[in-house]
Amino acid sequence: MGTTSSALLMLFAFLFIERIEFCCSSTNSNVSCIANEREALIEFRGKLKDDANRLSTWVGKGCCLWKGVGCSRKTGHVMKLDLCNPIPFDSYKGDFIQHSANFDKNRLRGEISPSLIVLNHLSYIDLSMNNFSDMQFPEFLGSLKSLRYLDLSWSQFFSGMIPHHLGNLSRLQYLNLSNNALVGSIPDTLGRLISLTVLDLSFNDFDNSMLHCLSNLSSLVHMDISSNNFNSLILDALGRSTALTFLDLSDNNFHNSMLLYSLCNLTGLLHLDLGFDSLNGSILYCFGKLHSISVLKLDYNSFQGPIPSEIGNMTQLTELHFTRNKFKGEIPNSMWWNLCNLCVLDLS
Ligand SMILES: *[C@@H]1O[C@H](CO)[C@@H](O)[C@H](O)[C@H]1NC(C)=O
Ligand SMILES: *[C@@H]1O[C@H](CO)[C@@H](O)[C@H](O)[C@H]1NC(C)=O
Ligand SMILES: *[C@@H]1O[C@H](CO)[C@@H](O)[C@H](O)[C@H]1NC(C)=O
Ligand SMILES: *[C@@H]1O[C@H](CO)[C@@H](O)[C@H](O)[C@H]1NC(C)=O
Ligand SMILES: *[C@@H]1O[C@H](CO)[C@@H](O)[C@H](O)[C@H]1NC(C)=O
Ligand SMILES: *[C@@H]1O[C@H](CO)[C@@H](O)[C@H](O)[C@H]1NC(C)=O
Ligand SMILES: *[C@@H]1O[C@H](CO)[C@@H](O)[C@H](O)[C@H]1NC(C)=O
Ligand SMILES: *[C@@H]1O[C@H](CO)[C@@H](O)[C@H](O)[C@H]1NC(C)=O
Repeated sequence: MGTTSSALLMLFAFLFIERIEFCCSSTNSNVSCIANEREALIEFRGKLKDDANRLSTWVGKGCCLWKGVGCSRKTGHVMKLDLCNPIPFDSYKGDFIQHSANFDKNRLRGEISPSLIVLNHLSYIDLSMNNFSDMQFPEFLGSLKSLRYLDLSWSQFFSGMIPHHLGNLSRLQYLNLSNNALVGSIPDTLGRLISLTVLDLSFNDFDNSMLHCLSNLSSLVHMDISSNNFNSLILDALGRSTALTFLDLSDNNFHNSMLLYSLCNLTGLLHLDLGFDSLNGSILYCFGKLHSISVLKLDYNSFQGPIPSEIGNMTQLTELHFTRNKFKGEIPNSMWWNLCNLCVLDLS
């Protein structure tokens, strides 16, 4: 149920983005293509290795009818590029993801050509689940000022830092860079992405100094930075992102639970994951302010002492994960009386 309600909120966040998809669905387009945009796409295609022949429709003049390309019905400008791998990867086996041969074959390879810079009406780019291990994170994307949706997850960029230029995308609402082995620190310029509602940086190698730039991102609804090497610095920046409903900070290196104070400001949170974060000390009493929270995960840390009775204030809780900590004492009565929606309780 918790997942359902946060999924619903996500849906709200995406509604606007989805509208962009409708407006430029290529099947409804009678506009054939703007010549220099077509050339840019052809150049882009030329730098790709397409083992599964996914771009076989990319011939002729009508680039708006090419698979994965969407144009504005009014102006004919290319607004959407959706070349996400159509084959889902199979399954997890332990920690490893099993790719089907078909998934790998359908990964576009090679480079993302900077020729795309000509497409300055692009608002939607999804290149996820491909293989760009021959290149670094493309800097030129920071010049595509109309971008609202950028998904480069699972792209296997050869190396890299996020370029400062990305901070120029002041209209960006959705940014997904998960699963890319990106390194270093997050550039301060990301603090200029003031329209961002969804940020997913999970499964990379970012370290500390996400700095205070995040405190500018007051529209953020969904943030996932799990499985990185972030430490304390990020946390005090979050206290002003009061629109957040989903926050996953798990599998980082935060250590000291006192740093969590700013999270008590996020009273709209529905889902909070702090698992596997090397946190010690006691759970903060101020967590009782998170009245709406539905899923709370604190598992695999070193929290000590008693479970504060303020946990009983979280009357909407459906899942509570306390596995593998060092709690002592009794389970507070307030928990038994008030957590009537609880479906999953793990205290092992
Ligand atoms: C596309 O079709 C619509 C309706 O059929 C028409 O109003 C519009 O002028 C056409 N656009 C172009 C560029 O041909
Ligand atoms: C990605 O592409 C590179 C070179 O194009 C290749 O060597 C590598 O095996 C590919 N990786 C996967 C997982 O397909
Ligand atoms: C980001 O991309 C990953 C992998 O493609 C996906 O599993 C995840 O749901 C995406 N995150 C969001 C917030 O949409
Ligand atoms: C984009 O950002 C970079 C670095 O932050 C800056 O040097 C550059 O001038 C900006 N470009 C545009 C087109 O605004
Ligand atoms: C916050 O945004 C403002 C306006 O865009 C910008 O001038 C400022 O540098 C940003 N602050 C941080 C910490 O990124
Ligand atoms: C909590 O939010 C208030 C109001 O937005 C802000 O002034 C304060 O600095 C925040 N506290 C923390 C710890 O972030
Ligand atoms: C928590 O961990 C930090 C960093 O490892 C350490 O300095 C501190 O003493 C620990 N606090 C407790 C209560 O164990
Ligand atoms: C928890 O709920 C009690 C009773 O409703 C209230 O007095 C108290 O202030 C709440 N605690 C927090 C931290 O919000």
